[in-house]
Amino acid sequence: MPKKKVYIETYGCQMNVADSEVMATILTENGYVLSNQIDDADLLLINTCAIRDHAEQRVLGRLDLFNSYKKKNKQIKIGITGCMAERLKDSLFEKKPFIDFIAGPDAYRNLPDILNTVETRQREIDTLLRKEETYEGIIPTRYNSNRFSAFISITRGCDNMCAYCIVPFTRGRERSRNPKDILNEIETVANDNFKEVTLIGQNVDKYRFENNGTITGFPQLLDMVAEKFPHLRIRFSTSYPQDFTEEVVLVMKKHKNICRYIHLPVQSGSNKILDLMKRGYTREWYLDRIAMIRKHLPDCAISTDIISGFCDETETDHQDTLDLMRQVRYDYAFMFKYSERPGTFAAKHLKDNVPDNVKSRRLNEIIELQKQLSLESNKCDVGKSFKVLIEGISKKSDAYFFGRTSQNKIVVFPKENAHLYDIAEVVVTDYTSATLLGKLV
Ligand code: SAH
Ligand code: SF4
Ligand code: F3S
Repeated sequence: MPKKKVYIETYGCQMNVADSEVMATILTENGYVLSNQIDDADLLLINTCAIRDHAEQRVLGRLDLFNSYKKKNKQIKIGITGCMAERLKDSLFEKKPFIDFIAGPDAYRNLPDILNTVETRQREIDTLLRKEETYEGIIPTRYNSNRFSAFISITRGCDNMCAYCIVPFTRGRERSRNPKDILNEIETVANDNFKEVTLIGQNVDKYRFENNGTITGFPQLLDMVAEKFPHLRIRFSTSYPQDFTEEVVLVMKKHKNICRYIHLPVQSGSNKILDLMKRGYTREWYLDRIAMIRKHLPDCAISTDIISGFCDETETDHQDTLDLMRQVRYDYAFMFKYSERPGTFAAKHLKDNVPDNVKSRRLNEIIELQKQLSLESNKCDVGKSFKVLIEGISKKSDAYFFGRTSQNKIVVFPKENAHLYDIAEVVVTDYTSATLLGKLV
Protein backbone atom coordinates (compact mmCIF):
# COMPACT_ATOMS: atom_id res chain seq x y z
CA MET A 1 0.00 0.00 0.00
CA PRO A 2 1.43 3.41 -0.86
CA LYS A 3 2.21 5.53 2.16
CA LYS A 4 -0.14 8.35 3.06
CA LYS A 5 1.11 11.85 2.55
CA VAL A 6 1.00 14.52 5.20
CA TYR A 7 1.26 18.24 4.60
CA ILE A 8 2.11 20.39 7.65
CA GLU A 9 1.70 24.15 7.82
CA THR A 10 3.26 25.95 10.78
CA TYR A 11 2.39 29.29 12.39
CA GLY A 12 3.68 31.10 15.45
CA CYS A 13 7.02 30.97 17.17
CA GLN A 14 10.16 28.86 16.91
CA MET A 15 8.64 26.48 19.45
CA ASN A 16 6.00 25.57 16.90
CA VAL A 17 8.59 25.04 14.19
CA ALA A 18 10.36 22.59 16.50
CA ASP A 19 7.05 20.93 17.41
CA SER A 20 6.10 20.45 13.76
CA GLU A 21 9.40 18.64 13.39
CA VAL A 22 8.49 16.41 16.35
CA MET A 23 5.15 15.66 14.67
CA ALA A 24 6.94 14.93 11.41
CA THR A 25 9.09 12.32 13.17
CA ILE A 26 6.12 10.67 14.84
CA LEU A 27 4.12 10.59 11.63
CA THR A 28 6.92 9.30 9.41
CA GLU A 29 7.56 6.53 11.95
CA ASN A 30 3.90 5.62 11.61
CA GLY A 31 3.38 5.15 7.93
CA TYR A 32 3.28 8.68 6.56
CA VAL A 33 5.57 10.52 4.20
CA LEU A 34 5.95 14.27 4.25
CA SER A 35 4.67 16.29 1.36
CA ASN A 36 5.17 19.96 0.71
CA GLN A 37 2.22 20.12 -1.63
CA ILE A 38 -1.12 20.92 -0.15
CA ASP A 39 -2.98 19.61 -3.20
CA ASP A 40 -1.31 16.23 -3.05
CA ALA A 41 -1.74 15.16 0.60
CA ASP A 42 -4.04 12.77 2.45
CA LEU A 43 -3.61 14.53 5.77
CA LEU A 44 -3.53 18.31 6.16
CA LEU A 45 -2.15 19.58 9.45
CA ILE A 46 -2.09 23.14 10.68
CA ASN A 47 0.10 23.87 13.71
CA THR A 48 -1.26 27.06 15.16
CA CYS A 49 -0.51 30.11 17.30
CA ALA A 50 -2.88 31.90 19.69
CA ILE A 51 -0.71 34.82 20.76
CA ARG A 52 -2.84 37.55 19.17
CA ASP A 53 -6.31 37.51 17.67
CA HIS A 54 -4.88 38.28 14.27
CA ALA A 55 -2.83 35.04 14.37
CA GLU A 56 -6.00 33.04 14.95
CA GLN A 57 -7.97 34.77 12.22
CA ARG A 58 -5.31 33.79 9.73
CA VAL A 59 -5.54 30.15 10.75
CA LEU A 60 -9.33 30.15 10.36
CA GLY A 61 -8.84 31.42 6.82
CA ARG A 62 -6.31 28.69 6.03
CA LEU A 63 -8.66 26.04 7.43
CA ASP A 64 -11.29 27.11 4.92
CA LEU A 65 -8.75 26.64 2.18
CA PHE A 66 -7.91 23.17 3.54
CA ASN A 67 -11.61 22.39 3.41
CA SER A 68 -11.82 23.30 -0.25
CA TYR A 69 -9.44 20.37 -0.92
CA LYS A 70 -11.44 18.09 1.32
CA LYS A 71 -14.59 18.96 -0.59
CA LYS A 72 -12.94 17.66 -3.74
CA ASN A 73 -11.57 14.54 -2.06
CA LYS A 74 -13.57 13.23 0.88
CA GLN A 75 -10.72 10.93 1.96
CA ILE A 76 -8.63 13.89 3.08
CA LYS A 77 -8.32 14.40 6.85
CA ILE A 78 -7.74 17.76 8.51
CA GLY A 79 -6.09 18.21 11.90
CA ILE A 80 -5.46 21.34 13.94
CA THR A 81 -2.63 21.29 16.47
CA GLY A 82 -0.71 23.75 18.66
CA CYS A 83 -1.73 26.70 20.77
CA MET A 84 -4.99 27.67 19.12
CA ALA A 85 -6.13 24.04 19.27
CA GLU A 86 -5.29 24.05 22.97
CA ARG A 87 -7.05 27.36 23.63
CA LEU A 88 -10.27 26.73 21.73
CA LYS A 89 -10.53 22.97 22.27
CA ASP A 90 -13.75 21.36 20.99
CA SER A 91 -15.35 24.70 20.20
CA LEU A 92 -13.26 24.43 17.03
CA PHE A 93 -15.45 21.51 15.91
CA GLU A 94 -18.42 23.88 16.08
CA LYS A 95 -16.59 26.68 14.32
CA LYS A 96 -15.19 24.48 11.58
CA PRO A 97 -17.16 21.20 11.45
CA PHE A 98 -14.92 19.75 8.75
CA ILE A 99 -11.98 19.42 11.19
CA ASP A 100 -11.22 15.74 11.93
CA PHE A 101 -9.05 16.14 14.98
CA ILE A 102 -7.72 18.62 17.49
CA ALA A 103 -4.42 18.01 19.29
CA GLY A 104 -2.76 20.29 21.84
CA PRO A 105 1.02 20.79 22.19
CA ASP A 106 1.45 17.90 24.65
CA ALA A 107 -0.61 15.39 22.66
CA TYR A 108 1.66 14.67 19.71
CA ARG A 109 2.82 11.26 20.93
CA ASN A 110 -0.80 10.24 20.55
CA LEU A 111 -1.05 11.25 16.92
CA PRO A 112 -0.93 7.63 15.64
CA ASP A 113 -3.85 6.68 17.92
CA ILE A 114 -5.72 9.83 17.07
CA LEU A 115 -5.31 9.10 13.37
CA ASN A 116 -6.55 5.54 13.83
CA THR A 117 -9.71 6.87 15.41
CA VAL A 118 -10.10 9.43 12.67
CA GLU A 119 -9.75 6.71 10.03
CA THR A 120 -12.92 5.14 11.36
CA ARG A 121 -14.62 8.41 10.55
CA GLN A 122 -14.85 9.61 14.11
CA ARG A 123 -13.59 12.94 15.30
CA GLU A 124 -10.94 12.99 18.00
CA ILE A 125 -9.62 15.55 20.45
CA ASP A 126 -6.68 15.49 22.86
CA THR A 127 -5.86 18.78 24.54
CA LEU A 128 -4.54 17.39 27.78
CA LEU A 129 -1.50 19.31 29.02
CA ARG A 130 1.09 16.88 30.36
CA LYS A 131 3.51 18.33 32.85
CA GLU A 132 6.12 15.63 32.17
CA GLU A 133 6.03 15.68 28.37
CA THR A 134 9.31 16.84 26.83
CA TYR A 135 9.20 14.49 23.83
CA GLU A 136 12.20 12.72 25.23
CA GLY A 137 13.74 10.26 22.81
CA ILE A 138 12.22 11.88 19.74
CA ILE A 139 14.76 13.44 17.41
CA PRO A 140 12.87 15.97 15.31
CA THR A 141 12.91 15.59 11.54
CA ARG A 142 14.32 18.80 10.06
CA TYR A 143 12.02 18.78 7.08
CA ASN A 144 11.04 22.36 6.56
CA SER A 145 13.82 24.22 8.18
CA ASN A 146 16.71 25.14 6.02
CA ARG A 147 19.58 22.70 5.87
CA PHE A 148 21.98 24.71 8.01
CA SER A 149 20.19 25.99 11.09
CA ALA A 150 18.04 24.12 13.62
CA PHE A 151 15.86 25.09 16.56
CA ILE A 152 16.54 22.92 19.59
CA SER A 153 13.82 23.07 22.21
CA ILE A 154 15.31 23.11 25.73
CA THR A 155 12.26 24.01 27.79
CA ARG A 156 8.53 23.70 27.21
CA GLY A 157 5.69 25.68 28.75
CA CYS A 158 5.90 28.83 30.82
CA ASP A 159 5.24 29.61 34.48
CA ASN A 160 5.56 33.37 34.21
CA MET A 161 1.96 34.34 33.79
CA CYS A 162 2.50 37.76 32.26
CA ALA A 163 -0.91 39.40 32.52
CA TYR A 164 -1.53 39.65 28.76
CA CYS A 165 -0.16 36.31 27.66
CA ILE A 166 -1.97 33.16 26.53
CA VAL A 167 1.14 30.94 26.39
CA PRO A 168 0.96 29.58 29.97
CA PHE A 169 -2.59 28.42 29.14
CA THR A 170 -1.74 26.87 25.81
CA ARG A 171 1.61 25.36 26.68
CA GLY A 172 1.19 24.47 30.31
CA ARG A 173 3.77 24.29 33.06
CA GLU A 174 7.42 24.99 32.56
CA ARG A 175 9.65 21.93 32.17
CA SER A 176 13.20 21.33 31.00
CA ARG A 177 14.53 18.65 28.73
CA ASN A 178 17.25 16.27 29.81
CA PRO A 179 20.62 17.78 28.79
CA LYS A 180 21.65 14.39 27.39
CA ASP A 181 18.69 14.46 25.03
CA ILE A 182 19.54 18.02 24.01
CA LEU A 183 23.19 17.16 23.31
CA ASN A 184 22.12 14.06 21.33
CA GLU A 185 19.84 16.13 19.20
CA ILE A 186 22.56 18.68 18.53
CA GLU A 187 24.97 15.87 17.69
CA THR A 188 22.53 14.66 15.05
CA VAL A 189 22.25 18.05 13.37
CA ALA A 190 26.00 18.59 13.60
CA ASN A 191 26.53 15.24 11.84
CA ASP A 192 24.08 16.40 9.21
CA ASN A 193 26.36 19.35 8.49
CA PHE A 194 24.21 21.98 10.10
CA LYS A 195 26.09 25.17 10.91
CA GLU A 196 23.94 26.72 13.59
CA VAL A 197 21.62 25.77 16.43
CA THR A 198 19.26 27.98 18.42
CA LEU A 199 18.37 26.77 21.91
CA ILE A 200 14.75 27.75 22.40
CA GLY A 201 12.24 28.14 25.22
CA GLN A 202 9.80 30.83 26.39
CA ASN A 203 12.27 31.73 29.12
CA VAL A 204 15.55 29.92 28.57
CA ASP A 205 16.99 31.39 31.77
CA LYS A 206 14.67 29.12 33.75
CA TYR A 207 16.23 26.00 32.25
CA ARG A 208 16.91 23.63 35.13
CA PHE A 209 17.45 19.89 35.05
CA GLU A 210 18.17 17.80 38.11
CA ASN A 211 19.78 14.40 37.87
CA ASN A 212 21.10 12.48 40.91
CA GLY A 213 21.58 15.70 42.82
CA THR A 214 23.39 17.47 39.96
CA ILE A 215 21.63 20.55 38.76
CA THR A 216 22.18 21.85 35.25
CA GLY A 217 21.07 25.45 34.81
CA PHE A 218 21.03 27.49 31.61
CA PRO A 219 24.60 28.84 31.90
CA GLN A 220 25.93 25.29 32.39
CA LEU A 221 23.90 23.95 29.48
CA LEU A 222 25.07 26.76 27.21
CA ASP A 223 28.66 26.18 28.29
CA MET A 224 28.37 22.45 27.60
CA VAL A 225 26.87 22.95 24.16
CA ALA A 226 29.44 25.57 23.13
CA GLU A 227 32.31 23.41 24.42
CA LYS A 228 31.13 20.22 22.78
CA PHE A 229 30.33 21.77 19.39
CA PRO A 230 33.07 24.32 18.69
CA HIS A 231 32.21 24.36 14.98
CA LEU A 232 28.55 25.21 15.45
CA ARG A 233 27.20 28.70 15.84
CA ILE A 234 25.12 28.74 19.00
CA ARG A 235 22.14 31.04 19.55
CA PHE A 236 19.44 31.07 22.19
CA SER A 237 16.03 32.65 22.69
CA THR A 238 14.12 33.96 24.62
CA SER A 239 15.88 35.55 27.60
CA TYR A 240 13.76 36.96 30.38
CA PRO A 241 14.96 40.20 32.01
CA GLN A 242 14.21 39.16 35.57
CA ASP A 243 16.02 35.84 35.27
CA PHE A 244 18.79 36.80 32.86
CA THR A 245 22.12 36.50 34.68
CA GLU A 246 25.65 37.80 34.36
CA GLU A 247 26.73 34.16 34.37
CA VAL A 248 25.11 33.66 30.96
CA VAL A 249 26.94 36.68 29.58
CA LEU A 250 30.22 35.37 30.97
CA VAL A 251 29.64 32.03 29.26
CA MET A 252 29.03 33.94 26.01
CA LYS A 253 32.24 35.84 26.55
CA LYS A 254 34.15 32.59 27.08
CA HIS A 255 33.00 31.02 23.80
CA LYS A 256 33.52 32.62 20.41
CA ASN A 257 30.99 30.27 18.84
CA ILE A 258 28.11 31.70 20.89
CA CYS A 259 26.60 34.44 18.75
CA ARG A 260 26.80 38.04 19.90
CA TYR A 261 23.07 38.52 20.00
CA ILE A 262 20.59 38.67 22.86
CA HIS A 263 16.83 38.92 22.51
CA LEU A 264 15.67 40.49 25.77
CA PRO A 265 12.02 41.52 25.48
CA VAL A 266 11.12 44.57 27.55
CA GLN A 267 7.43 44.95 26.51
CA SER A 268 7.16 48.49 27.95
CA GLY A 269 9.39 51.25 29.28
CA SER A 270 6.91 52.34 31.94
CA ASN A 271 7.13 50.95 35.45
CA LYS A 272 3.38 51.33 35.89
CA ILE A 273 2.71 49.22 32.79
CA LEU A 274 5.41 46.66 33.61
CA ASP A 275 3.70 46.21 36.96
CA LEU A 276 0.26 45.85 35.36
CA MET A 277 1.78 43.36 32.93
CA LYS A 278 3.18 41.39 35.91
CA ARG A 279 6.59 41.27 34.30
CA GLY A 280 8.34 41.29 37.68
CA TYR A 281 11.06 43.82 36.85
CA THR A 282 11.36 47.57 36.58
CA ARG A 283 12.71 49.82 33.88
CA GLU A 284 15.77 50.47 36.07
CA TRP A 285 16.42 46.75 36.53
CA TYR A 286 16.11 46.23 32.80
CA LEU A 287 18.52 49.06 31.99
CA ASP A 288 20.95 47.63 34.50
CA ARG A 289 20.85 44.27 32.64
CA ILE A 290 21.61 46.13 29.41
CA ALA A 291 24.55 47.93 31.02
CA MET A 292 25.86 44.59 32.27
CA ILE A 293 25.67 43.10 28.76
CA ARG A 294 27.41 46.12 27.21
CA LYS A 295 30.17 45.99 29.83
CA HIS A 296 31.14 42.40 28.99
CA LEU A 297 30.13 42.22 25.32
CA PRO A 298 30.40 45.61 23.66
CA ASP A 299 29.84 44.04 20.22
CA CYS A 300 26.65 42.24 21.22
CA ALA A 301 23.43 43.12 19.38
CA ILE A 302 20.29 43.44 21.47
CA SER A 303 16.70 43.10 20.31
CA THR A 304 13.38 43.33 22.08
CA ASP A 305 9.61 42.79 21.94
CA ILE A 306 7.32 45.74 22.62
CA ILE A 307 3.55 45.85 23.10
CA SER A 308 1.74 49.12 22.42
CA GLY A 309 -1.53 50.11 24.04
CA PHE A 310 -1.70 47.74 26.99
CA CYS A 311 -4.47 48.43 29.54
CA ASP A 312 -4.33 51.91 31.10
CA GLU A 313 -1.32 52.94 29.00
CA THR A 314 -1.19 56.75 28.92
CA GLU A 315 0.73 59.03 26.63
CA THR A 316 3.36 59.37 29.36
CA ASP A 317 3.75 55.59 29.60
CA HIS A 318 4.14 55.45 25.83
CA GLN A 319 6.78 58.19 25.94
CA ASP A 320 8.60 56.14 28.61
CA THR A 321 8.75 53.26 26.13
CA LEU A 322 10.15 55.47 23.36
CA ASP A 323 12.64 56.91 25.81
CA LEU A 324 13.80 53.48 26.93
CA MET A 325 14.22 52.40 23.31
CA ARG A 326 16.48 55.42 22.73
CA GLN A 327 18.50 54.65 25.84
CA VAL A 328 19.06 51.02 24.90
CA ARG A 329 19.55 51.73 21.19
CA TYR A 330 18.07 48.41 20.14
CA ASP A 331 19.44 46.86 17.00
CA TYR A 332 16.12 45.26 16.22
CA ALA A 333 12.60 44.96 17.65
CA PHE A 334 9.42 42.93 17.25
CA MET A 335 6.54 45.32 17.85
CA PHE A 336 2.89 44.50 18.48
CA LYS A 337 -0.45 46.08 19.25
CA TYR A 338 -1.97 44.74 22.45
CA SER A 339 -4.57 42.07 21.72
CA GLU A 340 -6.71 40.93 24.63
CA ARG A 341 -6.66 37.16 25.07
CA PRO A 342 -9.64 35.52 26.78
CA GLY A 343 -8.84 33.90 30.11
CA THR A 344 -5.66 35.84 30.84
CA PHE A 345 -5.28 37.96 33.98
CA ALA A 346 -5.58 41.13 31.90
CA ALA A 347 -8.77 39.95 30.23
CA LYS A 348 -10.30 39.10 33.58
CA HIS A 349 -9.15 42.01 35.70
CA LEU A 350 -8.02 44.92 33.53
CA LYS A 351 -9.78 47.03 30.94
CA ASP A 352 -8.60 46.95 27.33
CA ASN A 353 -9.23 50.69 27.34
CA VAL A 354 -6.75 52.15 24.87
CA PRO A 355 -8.73 52.84 21.66
CA ASP A 356 -7.55 50.92 18.63
CA ASN A 357 -6.55 54.03 16.69
CA VAL A 358 -4.39 55.16 19.63
CA LYS A 359 -2.76 51.70 19.86
CA SER A 360 -2.02 51.91 16.14
CA ARG A 361 -0.62 55.41 16.30
CA ARG A 362 1.65 54.51 19.21
CA LEU A 363 2.74 51.33 17.46
CA ASN A 364 3.64 53.36 14.38
CA GLU A 365 5.70 55.74 16.48
CA ILE A 366 7.50 52.78 18.01
CA ILE A 367 8.13 51.27 14.57
CA GLU A 368 9.39 54.57 13.18
CA LEU A 369 11.77 55.06 16.08
CA GLN A 370 13.07 51.51 15.75
CA LYS A 371 13.71 52.06 12.05
CA GLN A 372 15.86 55.02 12.97
CA LEU A 373 17.69 53.07 15.68
CA SER A 374 18.31 50.13 13.33
CA LEU A 375 19.62 52.56 10.73
CA GLU A 376 22.02 54.10 13.26
CA SER A 377 23.11 50.68 14.44
CA ASN A 378 23.76 49.54 10.87
CA LYS A 379 25.64 52.73 10.06
CA CYS A 380 28.14 51.88 12.80
CA ASP A 381 28.95 48.63 10.99
CA VAL A 382 30.27 50.27 7.83
CA GLY A 383 33.95 49.48 7.33
CA LYS A 384 33.86 46.58 9.81
CA SER A 385 34.14 42.98 8.71
CA PHE A 386 31.96 40.15 9.95
CA LYS A 387 31.79 36.39 9.69
CA VAL A 388 28.61 35.72 7.76
CA LEU A 389 26.82 32.39 7.57
CA ILE A 390 25.56 32.29 3.98
CA GLU A 391 21.88 31.39 4.05
CA GLY A 392 20.69 31.82 0.49
CA ILE A 393 20.56 33.71 -2.76
CA SER A 394 19.34 37.29 -2.54
CA LYS A 395 15.73 37.74 -3.62
CA LYS A 396 16.65 40.85 -5.56
CA SER A 397 19.51 39.43 -7.61
CA ASP A 398 20.92 36.01 -8.45
CA ALA A 399 24.40 37.45 -8.34
CA TYR A 400 24.15 38.10 -4.61
CA PHE A 401 24.08 35.94 -1.49
CA PHE A 402 22.55 36.90 1.81
CA GLY A 403 23.55 35.68 5.23
CA ARG A 404 23.67 36.61 8.89
CA THR A 405 26.34 38.01 11.12
CA SER A 406 26.86 36.75 14.63
CA GLN A 407 24.79 39.80 15.66
CA ASN A 408 21.91 38.36 13.64
CA LYS A 409 22.00 41.13 11.06
CA ILE A 410 21.32 40.31 7.43
CA VAL A 411 24.10 41.09 4.96
CA VAL A 412 23.78 41.02 1.18
CA PHE A 413 26.95 40.71 -0.93
CA PRO A 414 28.12 39.63 -4.42
CA LYS A 415 28.55 35.84 -4.61
CA GLU A 416 32.00 35.77 -6.20
CA ASN A 417 33.66 32.50 -5.15
CA ALA A 418 31.68 31.93 -1.95
CA HIS A 419 29.44 28.89 -1.34
CA LEU A 420 26.02 28.47 0.18
CA TYR A 421 26.10 27.62 3.93
CA ASP A 422 29.76 28.54 4.26
CA ILE A 423 30.89 31.10 6.77
CA ALA A 424 32.44 33.96 4.81
CA GLU A 425 34.28 37.08 5.89
CA VAL A 426 32.38 40.11 4.62
CA VAL A 427 33.20 43.79 4.98
CA VAL A 428 30.24 46.15 5.24
CA THR A 429 30.18 48.88 2.61
CA ASP A 430 26.65 50.29 2.86
CA TYR A 431 23.37 49.85 4.74
CA THR A 432 19.65 50.44 4.99
CA SER A 433 17.58 50.16 8.18
CA ALA A 434 16.87 46.51 7.35
CA THR A 435 20.05 45.21 5.70
CA LEU A 436 23.77 45.59 5.49
CA LEU A 437 25.46 45.54 2.10
CA GLY A 438 28.98 44.26 1.79
CA LYS A 439 31.64 42.42 -0.16
CA LEU A 440 33.81 39.39 0.49
CA VAL A 441 37.12 40.16 2.12
N1 SAH B 1 8.40 34.32 26.19
C1 SAH B 1 8.71 35.48 25.50
C2 SAH B 1 7.71 35.91 24.46
C3 SAH B 1 6.67 35.02 23.94
S1 SAH B 1 5.40 35.70 22.95
C4 SAH B 1 8.87 36.63 26.50
O1 SAH B 1 8.39 36.57 27.60
O2 SAH B 1 9.44 37.60 26.13
C5 SAH B 1 6.21 36.82 21.89
C6 SAH B 1 5.79 38.22 22.08
O3 SAH B 1 4.43 38.40 21.73
C7 SAH B 1 5.85 38.74 23.49
O4 SAH B 1 7.13 39.08 23.88
C8 SAH B 1 4.95 39.93 23.44
O5 SAH B 1 5.64 41.09 23.04
C9 SAH B 1 3.94 39.55 22.37
N2 SAH B 1 2.63 39.26 22.95
C10 SAH B 1 2.31 38.28 23.83
N3 SAH B 1 1.02 38.36 24.16
C11 SAH B 1 0.49 39.40 23.48
C12 SAH B 1 -0.79 40.00 23.40
N4 SAH B 1 -1.81 39.54 24.12
N5 SAH B 1 -0.97 41.08 22.60
C13 SAH B 1 0.08 41.56 21.87
N6 SAH B 1 1.29 41.05 21.90
C14 SAH B 1 1.52 39.97 22.70
FE1 SF4 C 1 4.15 34.83 27.85
FE2 SF4 C 1 5.45 36.03 29.80
FE3 SF4 C 1 5.72 33.41 29.45
FE4 SF4 C 1 6.76 35.11 27.70
S1 SF4 C 1 7.35 34.88 29.83
S2 SF4 C 1 5.59 33.29 27.25
S3 SF4 C 1 5.28 36.75 27.66
S4 SF4 C 1 3.87 34.47 30.07
FE1 F3S D 1 2.12 31.32 19.48
FE2 F3S D 1 2.06 29.26 21.05
FE3 F3S D 1 4.35 30.21 20.23
S1 F3S D 1 0.77 31.03 21.19
S2 F3S D 1 3.95 32.37 20.01
S3 F3S D 1 2.82 29.31 18.96
S4 F3S D 1 3.94 29.27 22.19
